[in-house]
Amino acid sequence: MAVVLNVLTRGFRKLITTTGLRDHSSLTDELINNMDKKATWDRFYSENTRKATHFTNFEWFFGFDAIRDFIMPVLYSRPTSDTLLHVLDMGCGTSALGPSVYRESVVPVQVTCADISPIAVRLMQEHTDTKSVQPQNISSNLDFRELDCTQLHKHYISESLDLILDKGTIDALLRSRDGGIKASQVLKQSLAALRFSGSLLQFSDEDPDSRMLWLEREAQEPGLMAANVGVQEVGELRGVTYYCYQVSPHPAAQ
Ligand SMILES: C[S@@+](CC[C@H](N)C(=O)[O-])C[C@H]1O[C@@H](n2cnc3c(N)ncnc32)[C@H](O)[C@@H]1O
Repeated sequence: MAVVLNVLTRGFRKLITTTGLRDHSSLTDELINNMDKKATWDRFYSENTRKATHFTNFEWFFGFDAIRDFIMPVLYSRPTSDTLLHVLDMGCGTSALGPSVYRESVVPVQVTCADISPIAVRLMQEHTDTKSVQPQNISSNLDFRELDCTQLHKHYISESLDLILDKGTIDALLRSRDGGIKASQVLKQSLAALRFSGSLLQFSDEDPDSRMLWLEREAQEPGLMAANVGVQEVGELRGVTYYCYQVSPHPAAQ
């Protein structure tokens, strides 16, 4: 087990050993190798629910409070218009990230929380139905959708989203045995779905030395796709340094 755990970076390893998952060694093994599989996440959210007496949001890495100052300025920097700004929390799980952006935004937003696991989506929908969150802007909307982000092009037309949030989703794909191609598909389709000047914000514990190289390579396709890529340090938590990667598409030179 120790050898296998070493394939995970420190943040993922810490997370898995601090969530009570050590009591479920077969689920831990499944997560280590198969975080790109729907069945793994269905099992993860089912087991979490079975153990709990009531719903609580499960946060990968950290919650909204730790990254509010990375998200809201990017949202507010979008050109103002009369229409809703479209925000997608991609691979939302049961995180409160999307609902927090919906609640806190003073500009009108359409926040969609999407996940491949119908169990996570149902839990989020049920929780929201019972809680009745009031947004700062009464025109804002929040919805939950079961969708596979490798198939984003079937759900969003090109240049239709303003902000995509990714907290741990592409990380999960990249760290799975067979997830590399899916991670690349998700990134490329995210960039196609974003408006120019929109952004993908990716929160990760992966070091910029490797993640920047991957993003810069995957986000460029001569004549087809181009993007600016940047990184900021979010800070250190439980001895692990986290980063916010910002990828913003722009028209490719012909
Ligand atoms: C590491 S968890 C992060 C969950 C959440 N973003 C958070 O911060 O707590 C990765 C999430 O991605 C979802 N996921 C994995 N592959 C996916 C895919 N192809 N499309 C949509 N969601 C996916 C999983 O179900 C899981 O909820």
